[in-house]
Amino acid sequence: MVSVSRRSLLALGAALPLLGRLDWAVASPPPAKVDKVRLNYNESPYGPSGAAREAMQGAIATAGRYPYGHMYALAALFAQQQGIAEDQVAVFSGSMAALRYAVLAFTGESRGLVMAAPSYEVPRQAAESNRASVHEVSLTAEHAHDIPAMLAADPQAGMLYLCNPNNPTGTLTPTEAIRHALANKPQGSVLVVDEAYIDFADAPSCVSWVKEHDDLLVLRTFSKIYGMAGARVGLAIGAPALLARLAVFVVMTIMSRQLGSDL
Ligand SMILES: Cc1ncc(COP(=O)(O)O)c(C=O)c1O
Repeated sequence: MVSVSRRSLLALGAALPLLGRLDWAVASPPPAKVDKVRLNYNESPYGPSGAAREAMQGAIATAGRYPYGHMYALAALFAQQQGIAEDQVAVFSGSMAALRYAVLAFTGESRGLVMAAPSYEVPRQAAESNRASVHEVSLTAEHAHDIPAMLAADPQAGMLYLCNPNNPTGTLTPTEAIRHALANKPQGSVLVVDEAYIDFADAPSCVSWVKEHDDLLVLRTFSKIYGMAGARVGLAIGAPALLARLAVFVVMTIMSRQLGSDL
């Protein structure tokens, strides 16, 4: 039985005038002043565009529902824009989550991670927590990934991580070198290309390559170019079978949270 207390009636009474107002569905203004640029997070201090703020504000009213419909619509739109199939795109709470799940899925005690140094530190941390060996290969003198050295670093590698443009150097690895990595990486390994900053460069994306390669995963995020780091929207693009290996960890994360621990 639902018990209705005096206090809950008072709270409802206070909320009723608000229900009649639609102010919350109107886009809030952009930040009045940009006071801090936090270089270590690579965020946009300007925040999302007016259109994005309006859409987000309008969606508050549907926050009681799980967002699957929106996720599938986003995946479908991105797939259409990129000329790939809908089931080659999966939506995550930020690309960092997708990246961590990729490391957990593709590495292990007998399958290491190969990545550049310096580069984005998250895959190394995830591999260490997965008891996988980590082979860090210095960038070349031009600050590009040293693909031949990365290919030779670990014949048992489960995953090669390539951040393009690279964080923190902002440098590009030539497309031909990435193609070479894909063609010559250790058997059974997956190449993960992190394109968090690709919109800021003239370089072509690897997204369309997933049509021909089922051992390639590409990551994209709304955090950087769209100034939406707080909204936590990221995409993983790859063969459906590859995405299914990441999805296992989404379920495990939900379960471990319910059990009171974190993955
Ligand atoms: C290279 C790179 N990949 C992924 C991420 C994580 O992005 P997201 O906010 O989508 O989790 C970052 C964030 O700084 C990054 O620099």
